[in-house]
Amino acid sequence: MVRETRLTPEAFVYPLFVCPGEGVRKPIGSMPGVFNLSVDEAVKESREAHALGVSAVILFGLPEKKDEVATGAWSDDGIVQQAARAIKREVSKLVIMGDVCLCEYMSHGHCGIVSKAPTTKSSGAAAVQVASDAPHHEKMKAIEAVAAKVVLAAAQPPFEIMNDATLELLAKTSVSLARAGVDVIAPSDMMDGRVGAIRKALDQAGLINTPILSYAAKFASGFYGPFREAADSAPQFGDRRSYQMDGANLREAMREIELDIEEGADMIMARVRFDVPLAAYQVSGEYAMIEAAARNGWIDRERIMMESLLSIRRAGASMILTYYAKEAAKLLG
Ligand code: PBG
Ligand code: ZN
Repeated sequence: MVRETRLTPEAFVYPLFVCPGEGVRKPIGSMPGVFNLSVDEAVKESREAHALGVSAVILFGLPEKKDEVATGAWSDDGIVQQAARAIKREVSKLVIMGDVCLCEYMSHGHCGIVSKAPTTKSSGAAAVQVASDAPHHEKMKAIEAVAAKVVLAAAQPPFEIMNDATLELLAKTSVSLARAGVDVIAPSDMMDGRVGAIRKALDQAGLINTPILSYAAKFASGFYGPFREAADSAPQFGDRRSYQMDGANLREAMREIELDIEEGADMIMARVRFDVPLAAYQVSGEYAMIEAAARNGWIDRERIMMESLLSIRRAGASMILTYYAKEAAKLLG
């Protein structure tokens, strides 16, 4: 009776990784107990989670094909669109969230459109321009200037994420997902201005009642590693530091959240300084660590599972995205 924090299955959001095929349950090596599921299997999991009192699933997709414009993310017969339609039909009371990002659908694994940076071109054109009879020190100066340009160009990443061009694809994806039955749009790409762009597109499509759960503030983290195996979404070059946040920056995180709320986010994944519903993601790396330690007999698996979920609630989250959703709900009876 005097407990301040309670864990309840309604707080849980269960992540599902949907893949093509039928009857597929492909295990994820770094996440024992988590699978790639074909649409029919995802429906089964959804039904079980719902029967255990879990309120929602969040869908991620493994498309048949990847390309440089993430066609699988926004096409109306995309894998998540198919799953959403099937789950809505079979388990109509379950809330369906759709993770909106492009990394799973891009051949390069980045969350946005990639362009080759222009700096490489100009360094290629660099040439030593000095008269052959100029004094030695002038020749040296000219050579050094060119060398400096080349070093500078080499230090630039050879590619760039095109923030604003990406917004269009994210908005298109969101509308397509909502039309397929996704109830909550959850952008995790971390491009600037995405919430505003998505809100505008949803409203223009007449989807004015579809809420947005922003992943702000999402930090660039090593703890997403196992997820990238599950979603086959690891970047093929570079990393996500130009769009995901620096874990050292609290003030920047608050700015990102504030912007998202201004742009129309209905829920966020961060702290309670803002008076909107708060979700927290117990991410793949946390899950993998608990599983690995438990397998070694170093910790009491169930106890730690429940304790870590409780601590997320204690920190103020009303919703928890967790791979333990079904199991924790079972334990809560
Ligand atoms: C897609 C996405 C990721 C996660 C949620 N959405 C991976 C990433 O940003 O690399 C992480 C979830 C987890 O680790 O469980 N961008
Ligand atoms: Zn992504």
